[in-house]
Amino acid sequence: MERTLILFKPDAVQRGLSGEILSRFERKGLKIAGMKLMQISQELAAKHYEAHKERPFYPGLVQFMTSSPVVALALEGIGAIATCRKLMGATFGSDAEAGTIRGDYGVSRSFNLVHGSDSPEAAERELGLFFPEGLVDYDYAAYNWIYDPVEELKK
Ligand code: RTP
Ligand code: MG
Repeated sequence: MERTLILFKPDAVQRGLSGEILSRFERKGLKIAGMKLMQISQELAAKHYEAHKERPFYPGLVQFMTSSPVVALALEGIGAIATCRKLMGATFGSDAEAGTIRGDYGVSRSFNLVHGSDSPEAAERELGLFFPEGLVDYDYAAYNWIYDPVEELKK
């Protein structure tokens, strides 16, 4: 099982799309291991996007991400990082395919609705930043109906 950090960015929360976007991840089979509405501080935004520090869009990105609350989610599943990135679509709404979250709900470069960790290392780092209190561990009944049976995977 893999875990990933997803953020519903301020535009998604302000446009009332949190529920619709959450349902896309849930119906794909991802388990919610953590979820909260929160205001990102300047310090947290800077740590989260430190890889982009030297990029021209960085000041605007930090300003946007701290301008209004976000929903932080920890999602869990086999291959969760890649699965979530596929559901999100390409970075800019104008490029993202129809059927993806960014492709269906936006056209902007900066207001692109969701963030998703892009590697296992990033996921671990970002989950530590957004969920320092840890995640919730529980049995997810739907798993038995989502993934291939264990015996099938061995063939
Ligand atoms: P994210 O980190 O938010 O999940 O997005 P991503 O991996 O698809 O894209 P990334 O390259 O990590 O960029 C982070 C965020 O910066 C904004 N951005 N603006 N040229 C631009 O104007 C530009 N490039 C990137 C986007 O909001 C992007 O999500
Ligand atoms: Mg990124």
